[in-house]
Amino acid sequence: MVEKGLKKTGDMQFLDTLHVKADTYLGGCDGSILIDNGNAGERMATGNQGLGGFDVIDKAKAMLERVCKGVVSCSDIVALAARDAVFLRNGPFYQVPTGRRDGRVSDISHAANIPEVGDSIQLLKSKFRQKGLSDRDLVLLSAAHTIGTTACFFIETRLYNFTQGGGSDPAINPDFLPKLKAKCPFRGDINVRLPLDPVTEETFDVQILRNIRDGLAVIESDARLYDDRATKRVVDSYIGQRGSSAFGQDFAEAMVKMGNIGVKTGSQGEIRRICTAVNGVPL
Ligand code: HEM
Repeated sequence: MVEKGLKKTGDMQFLDTLHVKADTYLGGCDGSILIDNGNAGERMATGNQGLGGFDVIDKAKAMLERVCKGVVSCSDIVALAARDAVFLRNGPFYQVPTGRRDGRVSDISHAANIPEVGDSIQLLKSKFRQKGLSDRDLVLLSAAHTIGTTACFFIETRLYNFTQGGGSDPAINPDFLPKLKAKCPFRGDINVRLPLDPVTEETFDVQILRNIRDGLAVIESDARLYDDRATKRVVDSYIGQRGSSAFGQDFAEAMVKMGNIGVKTGSQGEIRRICTAVNGVPL
């Protein structure tokens, strides 16, 4: 099992809040993934291994509770923190609609439909579609991998067990393959981390899409975006001069769309007092 949060500090953990937005796939943007309820919780799902940044959300929540108790939900904090993580890396700034309420249930079975790194492009597309997200949204949101890192854990199969004879994913550029293998040796430490965008890892930009075209994608789900006609067309559309200037705003729109999936409002859910537990549960 990959060690959660290992070797991630400071703003790297903040970046994780962006990926915690994968929470949206788990029955809506209701912060249920933040609930720490042991082995039966969503956090334990394979697709959620490696998620961190929960403490950043907890700290923001504690500060907000001190100034305005019971007003800002944990799910709104996740959406806002994700927006800020993008902006802090020179990405677009966008308005995040707020008013979400927090769910009261975290169940590992809700994670059944989370996109996994080894999913085929057809499966990725269909998992996104089931949530009302288009092929364009799939490409735009995957482009969040322009920042952040992955553990070797998530690319082991791609490097050493992709084909029946134990070969690597042929989509990996032959000049890049030895570099990936050097960083993540066979049966090496699965917790070693490497940038998802090896070219401009610190900056939120379209470089990740160029990487995908050039065989420099690090994780398999990013590489698969170039296998399919529809998603390939979207990738290519953002690589040129005109496309790259539209990228920021289109990404922001996709984020807002994702952030609206299955939102709880009105009398649904609650405003949690702390993000790691539903209200009324003894700590
Ligand atoms: C297509 C579905 C997706 C798959 C299969 C996927 C998979 C992954 C994996 C395996 C990692 C490395 C995790 C780790 O080692 O800790 C990762 C990291 C990351 N993902 Fe995704 N992801 C997907 C969609 C998204 C979306 C929609 C966003 C946000 C809009 C996102 C943002 C990030 C960020 C920022 C990181 C870096 C986290 C860090 O540096 O700690 N991903 N993703």
